[in-house]
Amino acid sequence: MSREPSTDRSQPPSPPAVGVGQVVELAADFEKPGIRNVVEFRGVTKTYNAGMDNAFTAIRQVSFAVEDLPGKGEFICILGPSGCGKSTILRLIAGLEPQHPPTEGEVLVLGRPVAGPGADRGMVFQDYTSFDHRTVLENITFGLECRGVERRERHEIGQRWIEHVGLDVATDAGKYPHELSGGMRQRVAIARTLILRPRIILMDEPFGALDPQTRMNMQDLLVSLWREVEATVFFITHSIEEAVFLGDRVYVMSAAPGRIIRELAVASPDRPARLMQREPKFQETVAYIRDLVSDVAAEAN
Ligand SMILES: Nc1ncnc2c1ncn2[C@@H]1O[C@H](COP(=O)(O)OP(=O)(O)OP(=O)(O)O)[C@@H](O)[C@H]1O
Ligand SMILES: [Mg+2]
Repeated sequence: MSREPSTDRSQPPSPPAVGVGQVVELAADFEKPGIRNVVEFRGVTKTYNAGMDNAFTAIRQVSFAVEDLPGKGEFICILGPSGCGKSTILRLIAGLEPQHPPTEGEVLVLGRPVAGPGADRGMVFQDYTSFDHRTVLENITFGLECRGVERRERHEIGQRWIEHVGLDVATDAGKYPHELSGGMRQRVAIARTLILRPRIILMDEPFGALDPQTRMNMQDLLVSLWREVEATVFFITHSIEEAVFLGDRVYVMSAAPGRIIRELAVASPDRPARLMQREPKFQETVAYIRDLVSDVAAEAN
């Protein structure tokens, strides 16, 4: 016998499911007993050039928390119009100036206020930051070198990572950055960050400059690497498809001064990007976010 749907009006309506996603109510209080947050923003405002004529508030009263899930990190994608403060949020987590320190509020990583950059956080930028005078192997193992890992061990680990990211030890290890394609350079940048096994990986539009096919290959690669390293990832993108495919959660931001206006929980990818991204339920989530983003843009104009 099927049960009647609940008619208890004292219960708030559950937020809507949208395709492969579920709208999550924005929480007001993130302190849950017994649960540690990997990253937490408490009422964070960043005003650049505060107190001067050219003062500009990039984000205002941003609050969110990403829980520390045992044996699994969450994949958080941030979407929002250009200039809404996405990179500002990422660099605040990284502890990089001049974004750090916030003008108001607190940024916490693993329960402690961020005091500056740290080995628990690794960053991958859009513009394939590599050292021009170092080979692929030397670029990938740079962080291990800084940590004093001895040459032979570092090269062994580096070679494994060259293969992990789909490059070829025999043909690619000795190449210099100018001899690589954009996609290959981004593989080097990812390996260079992940080799250090940071608890938190910060990625600022890492695939923005890649062609669509390479981009999807990189998305699939990132999903498999992320499952292995069990890190929490913050990933900024302008591609709604990319955010819905990669994200466990998608934060959608308003125009500057940026706030998080909607959070969606999304099912994890279980098939290649090329297949998942053409499915109707996937497209339904994309269309929902696209409408939201265009409303945000219309409000800003
Ligand atoms: N160092 C700075 N000094 C002054 N203003 C800044 C500084 N960095 C960023 N801003 C301003 O703060 C706002 C948010 O910048 P941010 O780089 O965080 O945006 P974004 O969402 O990453 O944009 P995009 O999608 O174009 O990368 C922008 O208007 C930018 O001009
Ligand atoms: Mg940016």
